[in-house]
Amino acid sequence: MTDRFYITTPIYYPNAEPHLGSYYTTAVADTLARYHRLKGDATYFLTGTDEHGTKMAKTAAEQGITPQALVDRVSSSFRDFWKELGISNDDFIRTTEPRHKAAVTEVVRKLVASGDIYLGSYESWYDEGQEEFVTESAAKAQEYKSAITKRPLVRFKEATYFFKLSKYVPKVLQYIKENPDFVRPEIRRNEVVSKLEQGVNDLAISRATLKWGIPMANDPEHVVYVWIDALTNYISALGYGSEDDSKFRTFWPADVHLIAKDILWFHTVYWPAMLFALDLPLPKTVYAHGYWTANGEKMGKSLGNIVDIAKLRKFIGLYGQDALRFYVIRAAPFGADLDWSDTEFIRTYVELGNVVGNLLNRVLNMTNKYRNGVLPAVGPGDNADLNLADATRAFGGKLHAAYANLELQQCATLPVELARAANAYIDQTAPFKLAKDPTQAARLDTVLNLSTQAVYQALVGLLPILPIKAAAGLQQLGVTVGNKTLGELLDQPLPTGHQLGVGQVLFPKVEIAE
Ligand code: MSP
Repeated sequence: MTDRFYITTPIYYPNAEPHLGSYYTTAVADTLARYHRLKGDATYFLTGTDEHGTKMAKTAAEQGITPQALVDRVSSSFRDFWKELGISNDDFIRTTEPRHKAAVTEVVRKLVASGDIYLGSYESWYDEGQEEFVTESAAKAQEYKSAITKRPLVRFKEATYFFKLSKYVPKVLQYIKENPDFVRPEIRRNEVVSKLEQGVNDLAISRATLKWGIPMANDPEHVVYVWIDALTNYISALGYGSEDDSKFRTFWPADVHLIAKDILWFHTVYWPAMLFALDLPLPKTVYAHGYWTANGEKMGKSLGNIVDIAKLRKFIGLYGQDALRFYVIRAAPFGADLDWSDTEFIRTYVELGNVVGNLLNRVLNMTNKYRNGVLPAVGPGDNADLNLADATRAFGGKLHAAYANLELQQCATLPVELARAANAYIDQTAPFKLAKDPTQAARLDTVLNLSTQAVYQALVGLLPILPIKAAAGLQQLGVTVGNKTLGELLDQPLPTGHQLGVGQVLFPKVEIAE
């Protein structure tokens, strides 16, 4: 039986262009999706845009256009930019699409029918940037400013429908405690648990004053609060509640909802409560990664301190989309905050060339020169040979474990470390000296074989992060990836007698014109 894997990113607000932050989550999701596809898992990777709510209505008004015109334009910009960056999403959901509206309507209908939605009246502080109500005590502690954007909170009062969140809180809390994989990393789980233990009120889920949203199924004078609308994307895209819900039946529950810590609460409290109320299974993992920061502050559209599309384009233009993906994934242990650095980007790229590119070149040059490009058999070995052979053999298992544990940084560094070990091995065994001594022919065979196997494994291991470069490197080794699975590629060494190709520089030197 094939495993299945469903991974999602947050659906981004199309009130401003994509940037490094939204790219990062999407690139991580892309890497995990590529890994699972390569593994042979039935994989579904969803991203999209979150198009309703005050924020969109306000931005459109500021620009003198309709909300629809705004979201059409910016949503396309997300979709196009992901294509340009080689993001391999299987679907792109927009919350203004009929399929999504139908699912939200169905969700509200069900919650009304089960008695989990009731009419009340609501007065509160509201964080417009985050589309979030803020309690009096939290508002006071934040000096009546948004904790995230630092903009002033606004006062809000109206007749509102409520979702009985408090009824589900004990169940959510128990679930989080009993399922350590549900909220990750652990520091985020602890945060949610301690906030939940302080008690939670019911959730206002409708707005009568706002028109830019999906009408409540039971009362079209109200529109659905944006988080109920937005979270439903994870099932609406799979056809939940529609005639053809085959994808929903195949892929739900999600394996990983990837988010950053800014939207942890919604995904680990509101969403599981909604799913409990709908009698649906919960996603296996909600993983909240860290922030890209600039001078210690979260990079964000509202703060104006972002690495924007133009800058990302500049780097892709110079180094390619693979190098960008590799840099962001390697930049910090997954979960921690990250800092963009031009210098570090370039250093990472140069390292790929010096370690992986260089190893590939050495292997191809030597094997072509000494053995006409035909992979020789492994002969008798000494300790150095055994060490490299062991490292190569252990590589696949380590890589699978890193992916299974979502240790993304490890996924990037393990292949590079294997290549580094193989370079050191070549330095130590000095094949050019062995080639001069006919009595050392068998030993030279061993060195050539083992270093070829190491670069082969390293390149296969890099496929999810460097899909273009790693496939090109493998092609030079005479291996076409095609539809082969990771198992087929990693579990078998290259056979003796395999014909290698010709070396070409994989990570060319980049001259930067200032
Ligand atoms: N529309 C909501 C999400 C609804 S999901 C059902 C939203 N959108 S957003 O456009 O603000 O995107 C937030 C997400 O973008 C973060 O959770 C994260 O995935 C990504 N990031 C935005 N800025 C970021 C950083 N500075 N650093 C890391 N990730 C960032 O919230």
